[in-house]
Amino acid sequence: MVSLEPSLLCADFSQLGAEISRLDAAGVSSYHIDIMDGVFVPNFGLSLLDVAVVKRLSTKPFDAHLMVAAANLPYYLPKVLDSGANTIYIHAEIGSDVRPFLQSIKARGLKAGLAINPETSLEAAMPLLSAVDSLLIMRVNPGRAGQKPLAEVEPKIKAALAMPERHFSVKIDGGVDFEGAVALAKQHADALVLGGSSNLFNPQCDAKIVMQQLISAINR
Ligand code: DX5
Ligand code: ZN
Repeated sequence: MVSLEPSLLCADFSQLGAEISRLDAAGVSSYHIDIMDGVFVPNFGLSLLDVAVVKRLSTKPFDAHLMVAAANLPYYLPKVLDSGANTIYIHAEIGSDVRPFLQSIKARGLKAGLAINPETSLEAAMPLLSAVDSLLIMRVNPGRAGQKPLAEVEPKIKAALAMPERHFSVKIDGGVDFEGAVALAKQHADALVLGGSSNLFNPQCDAKIVMQQLISAINR
């Protein structure tokens, strides 16, 4: 079964406790935490203080998606390594060699993830894949929630999922709406990030029903 992982970037922070209880009760697998430095992307996501709050509110596992430039990783990464994240994703496009950062994640016994932007091909990522436990394929340009998925990313997703003897999981991030989630799950994506494009954070919707409808459509 595909792992369904809410992006807490889309949570209502004025009532984070209620949001997390609602999502925990809806049966989500784990949480996706977007951390941005304002440089790699012109925006900010959750802070390390927010991560500590999430950990107090839920016992579910979480992954950290670092949209952080190479120059800022020596500041961010040690703190994220101590945060309790299961998998830490570093972007292939940080502007320097990603391998030492991936190695420091592995050295701590955590899962090393590589995130790739829509314009980064699978071929370009290939030399790095032997060092990773998970590949995060961005279906939108990172940095903002609720964007429409880019159609040109679909062949890359198909190719990654079809890779023979793939030793890493494939997670899809960005623009995953109901139909997209069903289609990606049927293509055997390992995990899907559910954010502003899903109804999970829609205050008009019951998160438990959203999850049930999604799971039954995937299993149909
Ligand atoms: C975008 C982030 C997200 C995002 C995903 O930069 O990485 O995790 O919020 O969900 P959508 O695109 O549905 O808001
Ligand atoms: Zn993300």
